[in-house]
Amino acid sequence: MLSQASSQQQFHLCRYSRAGYNSAIKLLLLSMNKDLSLLHHYPFEKLAALKKDLSPPDELAHIALSIGEPQHPAPHFVIESLIAHMHQLSSYPSTKGKSELREAIASWLQHRFAIRQIDPESQVIPVTGTREALFAIAQCLIDRSKKSPIVLMPNPFYQIYEGAALLAGAQPVYMNCIAKNGYLPDLDSITTQQWSQCQLMYICSPGNPTGAVMSEDYLSQLIELSHRYDFVIVSDECYSEIYFNEDNPPPGLLGVAAKIGVDDFSNCLAFHSLSKRSNLPGLRSGFVAGDAKILKQFLLFRTYHGCSMPPTTQTASTLAWGDENHVVENRNRYREKFDRVLQILSATLAPEMPQAGFYLWPTTPLADTEFAAKLYAEQNITVLPGRFLSRDTKTGNPGTNRIRMALVAPLEECVNAANRISHLLLSL
Ligand SMILES: Cc1ncc(COP(=O)(O)O)c(C=O)c1O
Repeated sequence: MLSQASSQQQFHLCRYSRAGYNSAIKLLLLSMNKDLSLLHHYPFEKLAALKKDLSPPDELAHIALSIGEPQHPAPHFVIESLIAHMHQLSSYPSTKGKSELREAIASWLQHRFAIRQIDPESQVIPVTGTREALFAIAQCLIDRSKKSPIVLMPNPFYQIYEGAALLAGAQPVYMNCIAKNGYLPDLDSITTQQWSQCQLMYICSPGNPTGAVMSEDYLSQLIELSHRYDFVIVSDECYSEIYFNEDNPPPGLLGVAAKIGVDDFSNCLAFHSLSKRSNLPGLRSGFVAGDAKILKQFLLFRTYHGCSMPPTTQTASTLAWGDENHVVENRNRYREKFDRVLQILSATLAPEMPQAGFYLWPTTPLADTEFAAKLYAEQNITVLPGRFLSRDTKTGNPGTNRIRMALVAPLEECVNAANRISHLLLSL
């Protein structure tokens, strides 16, 4: 049975809806995975609770800057392909995916990251969005029989990393990403003991929410550490195609591995997605590529897990990875939005221009939760308080007095939001 404390936490976790309430009651009665009680409330649950008793002005239309859901149009040729290949739904897909898709992905990786050779047979697996795969890889990799496994992760971070670590029986260790370190995880904060207990390290470049990009030197240092202490680097690169300088795309883990002679990508896995690159978050299409030894076991894991990509999605994804024009167009749209919004906010919130990605991560004049609540109550704008994405550590919480703003809405809406934010700040 669950201990009393963890049962109470579960009860608290599920109290947001009638269905949740019912499942909380069941949890009190059933014996279930006790690690479930370790999961934190998801940021959007916390946000709903923050906004619950607030009434924004009716005359202002609501603008959501809180969710990182791309809203630019999906490429028409992908939609057309989906419609034209509905008949493919009559067969079961294989977990490994069709060879044409894996070949398109390998060719994209080679071209994008200047990699001489990626084997589509053994070094690429399609995944149904990186979210599920980032979660599943920890369940596949963590060896609970070893003493006190650690999973390293940035702080703030994409919440799946933490949930994955906790449910895999590992201890998450948070590496603060603060301005002093260029918003990159502070490698010096990890002790030798912790490095030796580390089995997996999540990295995110370009970072969500900071937009920070890991340099080739930084990535190469990480690869060296992963070999010295024998852990796997899980590199979440789902924002890699949202950048501002066409001549300077963010480097990726596999490109750096190849450059420094780690041609078999040992201990290196890169996760990519069509969600942000191609404005297809609903398609659920991405891939993992890298170390063939690990991917062989991950494929086995996934065969049982049962998350193969529908054949229609595979056909459309093959086309999407093969086209760059729509991706360049997408970047142009973000560039224009960042230019306009930063110009408006320069005298008030003064956010830093991120290196890449579609988020702003500015500091706030009030506590992050207070500022977010005020912005909603007075201007009908939703942003995500920084601390909903980060955890307390001995050296502080890097989300304190920050908010995450996703510039995903259409240009005019983002401009409107920036004007209203400035208006609020001038009134404080
Ligand atoms: C950092 C990060 N990683 C992964 C994902 C998951 O993306 P998807 O599952 O759509 O590929 C997201 C989505 O917002 C994200 O922000």
